[in-house]
Amino acid sequence: MTMTVTGLTAVRSGRTILHSTSLNIPLRDRIGLVGSSGSGKTTLGHALIDDLRAQGHCVAHVPQSPEEALDPLRSMAFHWREAEVALGLAPDRADQAALFVALKIEGGDLRKRPWSWSRGMQQRFVIAMALLGNPDLIVLDEPTSALDPVVAAATMELLGGFLDGKDTAMILITHDLGLVARRVERLMVMDSGHLVEQGRTKEILERPKTRAAKALSAHRNWMALPC
Ligand SMILES: Nc1ncnc2c1ncn2[C@@H]1O[C@H](COP(=O)(O)OP(=O)(O)O)[C@@H](O)[C@H]1O
Ligand SMILES: [Mg+2]
Repeated sequence: MTMTVTGLTAVRSGRTILHSTSLNIPLRDRIGLVGSSGSGKTTLGHALIDDLRAQGHCVAHVPQSPEEALDPLRSMAFHWREAEVALGLAPDRADQAALFVALKIEGGDLRKRPWSWSRGMQQRFVIAMALLGNPDLIVLDEPTSALDPVVAAATMELLGGFLDGKDTAMILITHDLGLVARRVERLMVMDSGHLVEQGRTKEILERPKTRAAKALSAHRNWMALPC
């Protein structure tokens, strides 16, 4: 199965911030959506999620920082139950345990509220919630930019390991090519609200065609970083 969106646009305050964009996302695809800050990545991510959900696809979203997804007044157990209810799932301890082990949060106390967990653990919990119910697609919007590079790299490794062999497709939104270069097969490059280039990651890194892709791939030394 391939998920398809056609002619996505977004206008805010009379300004077009996303120009007509069409995409095909095959199941299992691992895609990096890259571009400088303000190029329209988050806007495209939201438009894509809304459109695919309206088509009936199960699409999960992981925002940039765990504070956007977690209520400081509610326990972690409450959040987990809310996610199950939203997906129409009965509580399933085995499913929960498998996700907690995969994302290394099995030691976390679910009776506690988010702030007594470390940020890295909070974000891995948010990712685990997003993976509940085996979505067709998970969209992660700069999911590790609020984490230190070592924790960020470990988080991406755990997510990659969990998704390995699963049908769930992934779109990883980032301005950090070092983070995506080794983790996605395909890149989509945004510039000023346009999707300006897409192709195999290696090809774009080695032979970028557009100004935006050239600017990003000029920082090839980022690939040596652990994140
Ligand atoms: N609600 C809004 N009203 C006006 N402009 C917006 C709004 N949301 C985003 N923008 C503008 O649209 C552009 C793209 O934003 P965004 O999608 O957040 O970019 P990115 O995620 O790549 O940093 C930016 O110039 C931003 O200022
Ligand atoms: Mg953004």
